[in-house]
Amino acid sequence: MTVTATSLTAASNVRPLIPPANNAPCWCGSGEKYKKCHRAQDESEAQAAQVAKLAKTSKVTPVKAGIVSPRREVPAHIPRPDYAASGYPGNGYPREKDPVKRLEKMRRACKAAAEVLELTGRAIRPGVTTDELDQICHDACIARGGYPSPLNYRGFPKSLCTSVNEVICHGIPDSRALLDGDLVNLDVTIFLDGVHGDCNATFGVGELDEDSKRLIQVTRECRDAGIAAVRPGRPISDIGRAIEQHCKKAGFTVFRAYCGHGINEIFHTTPEVPHYFDRRANTVMREGMTFTIEPMINAGGEDHIDWDDDWTVATKDGRRSAQFEHTVLVTANGVEVLTLP
Ligand code: MF3
Ligand code: CO
Ligand code: CO
Repeated sequence: MTVTATSLTAASNVRPLIPPANNAPCWCGSGEKYKKCHRAQDESEAQAAQVAKLAKTSKVTPVKAGIVSPRREVPAHIPRPDYAASGYPGNGYPREKDPVKRLEKMRRACKAAAEVLELTGRAIRPGVTTDELDQICHDACIARGGYPSPLNYRGFPKSLCTSVNEVICHGIPDSRALLDGDLVNLDVTIFLDGVHGDCNATFGVGELDEDSKRLIQVTRECRDAGIAAVRPGRPISDIGRAIEQHCKKAGFTVFRAYCGHGINEIFHTTPEVPHYFDRRANTVMREGMTFTIEPMINAGGEDHIDWDDDWTVATKDGRRSAQFEHTVLVTANGVEVLTLP
């Protein structure tokens, strides 16, 4: 007798992994032909399981742009960065000459940024729109006496960047509601006391699949490996080397098109901080320097597409991307993370 999946499992009354042939007896033991018995039910359940699994990956439901709400106002008493009206950053806010005072300002702005990120992150749940998150971030910046740095920076229309699933960075908050299983990066920058503080984090929405959880975890580790490489006297390229190494071990891809950056009275200034090893990044780290480390890590390939909104950067293969960012200070013997609440 030929041993088939059917004959092995027919007596067990348990649905077999391989379904019986259409005219073979049903696995349930009823004696009916499979096609007349459990086939329809098996097929709909298998399909439902498949759809549920795919719905958790961005491939079947690419992120689409929603409606961007009207521009939010900043009260007149809030000091603004140089680009707030024109959209064009110039030489930045007048530089604080006293290094002690300057560092105090950086500390305050960075702490405020971290608080706003934490507070906005707490509002994440299935059903909330990224525009609602933008409102929370906007109000929280103003409540601290600060200006939400993204607003009109090179024309960016909102106060927060929200990057969902396959969006790598610079997503524009809009009417899209977050879905159970999405991941979303919130990138908060505040201009307070004449300087900027910049940080971001990636959050899961509702229940996240295991692959996405791992992507988030590894990305946070990559940022922290970069921070651990900060040391006065060493070249900036040490940071990218550490990040790249950790990312490679995990089997993910460092996104190279955007780097970390110097930050102070100017939102984006020197040095450029690549998140991969680049020997041209030979600026030597010096005590008192402030810059960001903000690796974007792709689950799949590095190729990206730019949306026609002029801002949103997404993976070409539709696979997910995560990011974590801190603003850090180079100290006499290492590093201090400034963007902690
Ligand atoms: N905060 C982002 C960064 O980490 C920059 C956003 S620029 C914006 O550098 F215009 F999109 F807000
Ligand atoms: Co940022
Ligand atoms: Co940044």
